[in-house]
Amino acid sequence: MEREKTGIRGVDSMVQGGLPKSSIIGLSGPPGVGKSIFALHFLLEGARKGQKCVYINLEEPRENIDTMISQFSFADEFMKFVKQEKIVVKCFTYPEYEKIYSDLLQKIREDSSIHRLVVDSFNVFFTAVSHPEALSIPSEVNIRRMINQAFSMLRRKGLTSILILEMSRDSRHGFYYNIPYLVDGTISLDFLELGTIERRIFIPKMRWTSQHKESKAYEITGKGIKVFEEKE
Ligand SMILES: Nc1ncnc2c1ncn2[C@@H]1O[C@H](COP(=O)(O)OP(=O)(O)O)[C@@H](O)[C@H]1O
Ligand SMILES: [Mg+2]
Repeated sequence: MEREKTGIRGVDSMVQGGLPKSSIIGLSGPPGVGKSIFALHFLLEGARKGQKCVYINLEEPRENIDTMISQFSFADEFMKFVKQEKIVVKCFTYPEYEKIYSDLLQKIREDSSIHRLVVDSFNVFFTAVSHPEALSIPSEVNIRRMINQAFSMLRRKGLTSILILEMSRDSRHGFYYNIPYLVDGTISLDFLELGTIERRIFIPKMRWTSQHKESKAYEITGKGIKVFEEKE
């Protein structure tokens, strides 16, 4: 199995050296756990390998993304890859969702140079559950079919994809359309708040991989995400 490193050493060692190539990984957790920062590491690692990486953000304007990047020690290197179009950053705002899902997939289908894809966050497409007609989708069954078709296309094209799944604390199992069953792997970031923040990463599912069975502690610093080895 070919592996694609996430760029976070402590994560790669939890999954036999990296994510399975051509897999679709759901990265889940409540707000503020570092999902977007995790994505930056993944994109940067790809660009360092000469891969073309695409980051789609559906929630925040471009300025916010640039501000986030600028905080980290790898900012200059990251922005250099952006200038070279090794990392392509695309931001969309709410009213466009109904169009972008199909447009996006069409673009990805046509561009065979993309190696890595991040959608931040994927469930934004489907938060229109209460009014699915906004997506011109007749039923839940069709949404599942739509997701399945998109996933097959991504795998066929050999893209390694991270789909960020925004989760609220109280709807722990409230994933949309059983996305965890459809993806090849899930990585969960979470934290305990007990006067101080304790961050944990857990990998409940990773196809074709004997993944690390326990959760590990991590921290976020100016260098990004660092996962602690157990003895630390
Ligand atoms: N320079 C930094 N040093 C320490 N922690 C940081 C730094 N920058 C961001 N963070 C932490 O990262 C969190 C935001 O990460 P982010 O990836 O945006 O979360 P998510 O995408 O899961 O909502 C903040 O809540 C903060 O705790
Ligand atoms: Mg985020």
